[in-house]
Amino acid sequence: MNASDDITNITILKIGGSIITDKDANDGAANYDEIERIAGEISKHKDRLIIVHGAGSFGHPQAKKYALTEKFDAKGALITHESVKTLNRIVVESLKNAGVDAVGVHPMGSTVSENDRISQMFLDNIHLMLDNGFVPVLHGDVVMDIKLGTSVLSGDQIVPYLAVQLGGARIGIGSAKDGVLDDKGDTIPTITSSNFKDIKKYIGGSESTDVTGGMLGKVGELLKLCETSSITSYIFNAGKSGNVSRFLGGEDIGTAITK
Ligand SMILES: Nc1ncnc2c1ncn2[C@@H]1O[C@H](COP(=O)(O)OP(=O)(O)O)[C@@H](O)[C@H]1O
Ligand SMILES: [Mg+2]
Repeated sequence: MNASDDITNITILKIGGSIITDKDANDGAANYDEIERIAGEISKHKDRLIIVHGAGSFGHPQAKKYALTEKFDAKGALITHESVKTLNRIVVESLKNAGVDAVGVHPMGSTVSENDRISQMFLDNIHLMLDNGFVPVLHGDVVMDIKLGTSVLSGDQIVPYLAVQLGGARIGIGSAKDGVLDDKGDTIPTITSSNFKDIKKYIGGSESTDVTGGMLGKVGELLKLCETSSITSYIFNAGKSGNVSRFLGGEDIGTAITK
């Protein structure tokens, strides 16, 4: 078996903008210490890995300012895209400093959406990067959209799309809470499409600026994934030191979203 046959040992880790940026800032403010800490935890992982990061204050306030989820605005789209690219550069630099062969992949350059949903993403480069030991680092971005001109593509949509296209993956969504929390603040261990009806009332958008639906957006994307595949995802707290290592080491932490 050659390396490219061994495709299902891929891990896709999303790091939320709520962790790597100050999400309450009006314009790009990076949490350099957190980025460095997480890069260190990622550097211990030796298997195939894709990182997707959120935009935090490098994308959401700009997308909101130019109302990108409501109307086409060329200048606003480019300002937002350039801003999140800046964050991607910071994340990739930090990963490289930690010894990871990280390479930034900007969805704007590889993806077309239709009415906010990915219709096509070029993946040949990602396959080759994984085969050759690189760690592709994608991010939430503004992308061209067949119907809308541009649309805002959440990292939370990229992760399940990649998992399906790559034929399976272990998925972790690192965010700012211990998982999906109930009304008492306790972590809900498992969400399935059958218990979601009862749990939905506890799940909302983000406490900060987030144009892609906050926690409810994440759970929606991951439940959609369960319906069409047998892939389980974990939403966990990447703001707690050691949790990224635990997840990458195979521990099932936080809330499992499963069939
Ligand atoms: N039931 C819930 N459990 C956890 N977080 C929730 C819940 N309902 C709403 N949220 C909010 O959703 C946020 C996570 O979404 P978001 O801000 O988009 O994170 P990220 O930046 O990681 O994408 C949490 O930090 C919290 O403010
Ligand atoms: Mg978000």
